[in-house]
Formats: sequence, C-alpha cells, structure tokens
Amino acid sequence: MAELRQRLAGRLRLDDERPSAIVYDLAQVQARAFELKHALPEFQHCPALKAAPYEALLRHFGGWGFGFEAASFTEGLVAARAWPGAPLLYDSPAKTRTEIARAQALGWVLSANSLDELARTQAPCSLRVNTRTGRGQVAHTSVAVAGSRFGEDFEELPGDLDCAGWHAHIGSQGCTLDQLVLSARRLADLALRHPRTQWLNLGGGLPAQAAYADYAAALRAEVPELFSGRWRVYTEMGRSLLATTARAYTRVEYVRRGVATVHLGADFLLRRVYRPDDWPCPLQPLDGTFALRPGPPCTQTIAGPLCFAGDVLGTVQAPPIAEGDIVEIGLAGAYTASLWSRHCSRRMPPVFGLAADGALQTLSAGESEADLLRLWRQADLPTQAAG
Ligand SMILES: Cc1ncc(COP(=O)(O)O)c(C=O)c1O
Repeated sequence: MAELRQRLAGRLRLDDERPSAIVYDLAQVQARAFELKHALPEFQHCPALKAAPYEALLRHFGGWGFGFEAASFTEGLVAARAWPGAPLLYDSPAKTRTEIARAQALGWVLSANSLDELARTQAPCSLRVNTRTGRGQVAHTSVAVAGSRFGEDFEELPGDLDCAGWHAHIGSQGCTLDQLVLSARRLADLALRHPRTQWLNLGGGLPAQAAYADYAAALRAEVPELFSGRWRVYTEMGRSLLATTARAYTRVEYVRRGVATVHLGADFLLRRVYRPDDWPCPLQPLDGTFALRPGPPCTQTIAGPLCFAGDVLGTVQAPPIAEGDIVEIGLAGAYTASLWSRHCSRRMPPVFGLAADGALQTLSAGESEADLLRLWRQADLPTQAAG
C-alpha cells in the first residue's frame, strides 16, 4: 500500500482558502476495526466518540456492528443519529438529572460515575469503579489512582450494591498491558461477587500502536470468565482504534530563521503542544506536491499559527523547508480535531476519507467564516447589524 501522501498527490489541493486538511485512510480505519473485532469477537466494541466524532466515520463503525461510547449527551445524540439503535454507552462525570432521565428513556447504557449519581438513576445502569491499577506513563490521563474523581474505589463499595454493570477506564496511551488486564480482572471479581451483574465495560486506554491480539491473549489468560458468555462485555477504544488512521496536511506560509510557520498548531494538536513530552507527533515536511524533498537535512522548527510563543509542533531534520511546502502530521486520527481550541478563532479544517479506490470523500466540511461569526455573535443582535 503506497504511503497516504503519495495517494493524495493530485487529489488534495491546499491553498489560501484551504491551507490545511485532515485525511483518514478509510482502508486503514476498517483494518484496525476488524483487527479489534477479530481479536475479541465475543465483546461489543463501542468506539469512544471523544477521539473522533465524525458522523460519516461512525456510520462505517455502525455498519460493522460496533456500538458507541458517548462522554456527553451531545456525543450520544451524534452517535444515535449516525447509527440509530446501536448500543450506546453514556459516561460522563457531570450528567445532569435531565440528561440522565433522557438517556435512560432513550435506552442508553448509562455508567454512573459515583454513588451519588447512581442514586439519581431509575433504570438499571452500571457504576464506574476505580480499579486502582496505578498511574500510567501519562499522568494527566491516568485516572485509576488513589483519590481519583472518576468512579468509586473498588475496595470501598458498600456490600449491598445492586448494579446491572461495572465499568472501569484507567487512563489513555500510557497504560501497560498488565495494568489494563488487572483492571479487567478486578471488574470480573466484582461481577462474580454480585450475581445480578449483566454487563462489564472494560473502557479503552490502549496505546496508539497496540496489538489487539496481545490484549486479547492476556485477557483470555488472566480473565477467562469474560469469555464464558455469562456477561455482556463492552470496550470503549479511542486512541488505539483511530490515531494511526489519519494524517493532517498543512501548508507552510512563512520560513524565517529556521522556523516554518504552518496553519495548524495548538488549536489542533492541543495535547502535543501543551504537553509535548507526553504526546509524540511525527512531522514530515513535503514539497507542494506531497513529495519528499531531496537534499541534506538540517534542523528546523515547525511552528503553529497561534499568537503565543509556545505554539510549536516540534523540530525536524529535513532538507530546507520553503514557503508553499506541506507538513504532514502523523497520529492525527484521534484527539486532534475533537479537541479543537478557539484560540485566535481559526477555522477547523475540512476532513476527508480516502477510499481504497482513491476517491476522496468529505467527512466534515470544517468551518466557514460565517460559522465563526455566528459563534461569537451577540445572540440578541438583529441579523442585519452583524454585517
Ligand atoms: C470513560 C472513557 N472511556 C474510553 C476512553 C477512550 O480512551 P482511549 O482513547 O485511551 O482508548 C476514555 C478516554 O478518555 C474515557 O474517559
């Protein structure tokens, strides 16, 4: 399979009106989805919308038999519109009473984040528990630590709890296989102690390049009860399912003193720019035709378009970059556009899916100037005054 960039040459044009674009390799999305399904066919997989909530992508997953995980009521609405009737897990540490009632009326599988929230529910639901597997490599996405505000400590649960399900998600990217499997083991032990358990939700948390077969083998060895058919088992993968399936392309506007300024920065790569040590980000300069430039490499900095000193994507060793070149950003398929920031009010770029036959489908048109003007507009201003 040719590199994505080679297949984009002549198909994707970046210009002043559209200086950046995100491109999903749809064959790779399917390959990754099926890798998960084949590794763990007994489970109901529910991709986490927070990673990449494009309705067009969700429709692919719905067609492949996936459900969805929503971390807000709005994400739930997006998922329900994309594939009506798909299993929908609803997690969030801040659900209102109204959202809980609406979600339960819609038949979503709700996970209460605390005993207080559990008391607000009517229909059977699950409780999120903190399985205390410890901090992963990325501290600010690690939630299975002492005192975490996510879930109730699994060792401090009241004995008479009557939950339909148990849910744990321990962190993202930096969790080891041992930690992920220990969490599942502790969930299964809870279920064994509570005979009315109907389902378990193992969460997500695997790193971008994780091999699902390794996860499956470890679960089969350490938590065989999950495969007994006794309970429904859900997963909520985000980063591991999608991060590697897309790249972003952004045009170089200026090159000065070894710094190439492009059109995507902390607004798009929020995690990367603010916590560069936690979030690696492959960067590859290309010429304006998506080809690698020949020539001896030198160190150059890739800077974003936002007005603060720290808006830096990283450094590269590459032949000298020129105005009009393109920078390819890897690992762009998860937690990029979905974390979009409004700093400097730049427009979200369009998102495309490159199909196996070479067709470029629009997954999201991105934002127009009118969208931004509408966002910041005083709500009660007469329309004509908006200019
Ligand atoms: C409850 C829950 N489930 C699933 C996920 C997805 O995690 P990941 O993208 O690491 O697989 C997250 C991420 O924050 C989460 O909070």
